[in-house]
This record gives sequence, structure tokens and C-alpha cells, in this order.
Amino acid sequence: MTMTSTPKPIKHYLQFSDLNASDYAYLFERAALIKKKFKAYEKHQPLIDRTLVMIFEKASTRTRVSFEAGMYQLGGTVVNLTTEGSQLGRAEPIEDSAKVISRMVDLVMIRTFEQTKIERFAAHSRVPVINGLTNEFHPCQILADIFTYIEHRGSIKGKTVAWVGDGNNMANTWLQASEILGFTVHLSTPGGYEVDQSIAGIRSAESYKVFKDPMQACAGADLVTTDVWTSMGYEAENEARKKAFADWCVDSEMMQAAKPDALFMHCLPAHRGEEVEAEVIDGPQSVVWDEAENRMHVQKALMEYLLLGRIA
Ligand code: CP
Ligand code: NVA
Repeated sequence: MTMTSTPKPIKHYLQFSDLNASDYAYLFERAALIKKKFKAYEKHQPLIDRTLVMIFEKASTRTRVSFEAGMYQLGGTVVNLTTEGSQLGRAEPIEDSAKVISRMVDLVMIRTFEQTKIERFAAHSRVPVINGLTNEFHPCQILADIFTYIEHRGSIKGKTVAWVGDGNNMANTWLQASEILGFTVHLSTPGGYEVDQSIAGIRSAESYKVFKDPMQACAGADLVTTDVWTSMGYEAENEARKKAFADWCVDSEMMQAAKPDALFMHCLPAHRGEEVEAEVIDGPQSVVWDEAENRMHVQKALMEYLLLGRIA
């Protein structure tokens, strides 16, 4: 008789909806523990001998540093690939790249353009794949943002998040998170830049409300957040966007319309004087630096979870 073992299904993190509320509760708790150890200079190395490949088809500061530093801190090692510096830039099929890369490493993080590209990679990968930003989603950022909210204010359940600006990858991911974690998003985007519910990949319109006026979207909000007017890959639209988004700059009046203890978040990089006034992003309600730092702590929890599962 031959013994056959059923291979464990691979867990990917391609969009926020790939995990459920219970997974997130675990990850937030785990990230808090991992952060505490980091602050105490206490070693936490569950991923010794594991390798992460990072593939960047777009620029990055935070994602690069947080994944690279995070993986080394977990005891693992990192390989960094870019489009130009690899055969990806010379049209090697994504499926072939996935088959080859995933035979040599334990985990892959990709920042690219279309979501379909990361899905094709994952479909041919032997190891977990993490979305480090696509045109449609930025799940690691929202993971960090909600962890940051919890650190400052406790559970986000039942709260209101005002999104002021582009109906982009960040907005889509906030919507996915609102369905899973039970909060409401107030969306205000200029005409022509609305969120498309089918692209956002959410089941219903129950967890969000659309406002023409960004001031109204901010009224009574627990968190006000925004992002660049022009995301990576859309640079050709920059001039048209500057005109269309002129009234979607988060200013102190908008922050005053929100709850008195409302937080301000921005995934960064930011353009002061465009999507946010300097006095808001550099003001007392802003938690953008915690948000950026927390990318590393939550992603360490995520990498550990995808490779080792829940640790009791
Ligand atoms: N917020 C974020 O993903 O930043 P980078 O583009 O610098 O990685
Ligand atoms: N929406 C922005 C986020 C950058 C971190 C972009 O995609 O460029």
C-alpha cells in the first residue's frame, strides 16, 4: 500500500477578501505581539531558512523596506526583482516566471499593474503570493491602516471611514474591508473617478455611501483618509486629474466636520497642497507615520501566517 498525503492548499493574499474576520482578528493580535517584541529588541525568528522574492513592476519605498526588513527580522532572506532587471521586462510569460521562481523560494510578494497578472502568477505558483499593490487593490496597506486604527481607537467595527479622492486601489480595498470587518465607508470622488463596485469586488452596496460633497462625506467620520490624485500607471492623466480633483483636498475644515477625535490617514507618498493640506497631514490628528511603520509589523504577521498558519 502506498501512502499518499494530500498537499496543503496554498494560501495567497491577493485581495483583502482572501481572509475572513477571524483571520484578521488573529493577525491584528499577532502583529501587536510581533511589534512589541521588535520594540524590545527581542528576536522573533520563525522563518529561518525561508526566502521571500519581491517583484516590483512599479516604484516603492515603504513596501520594499517593510517587506525586506520584516523578512530578515523573521530570520529569513530576501531576493529583490524588478521588471527591468529581470526577464519579466523581456516578455517572459508570467506563468513561466511563477513556475520557476516558486520552485526556489517560499513566498512571493508582487507589486504590478493589472490584478489579473498577480492572479495568473498565483495560479502557477507553488508558494503563497502576496499582493504588494496592483491597479485594483492594496490589501497590505489597509491591513496596516486598520491595525493602526485599532492601536489608537480600538475596534473599527461600527465606525465610519471617510474616503476623499480617487476611486482607486486603496478605495476598493477599504470597501472590501468594510464588508468583512463591519464598518461604513463614506466615499466622495470627483465625477468620472467613482469606485466601480464590480471592480472593488464587494457583494453589496450596504457598507458604503456615496457623497458628491467631500465635506458631507467627512461629517461625523471617525477616520478621514485620502491618497494621491494620480496613482502609478496613470501618469498620462495627471493634468486632467489635477483639474478634476481640485476640490478633493483634505483640509482643516473637513477635519472639523469629522468627529473631534477623528484620525487622518494617508498611505503615502503624499503631495501636500494637492490631496491633503500640510496642516492636516502634519497636524495632531494625523497618524501617517504609525501607519507606515505598521506596514512592517502586520506584514511580518501575514508572512508568518501564510507559511506557518496560526500559532497557538
Ligand atoms: N504606501 C505604499 O505602498 O508606499 P510605497 O509605494 O512607498 O511602497
Ligand atoms: N494609489 C497609489 C498608492 C501608492 C502607495 C498608487 O497606486 O500609486
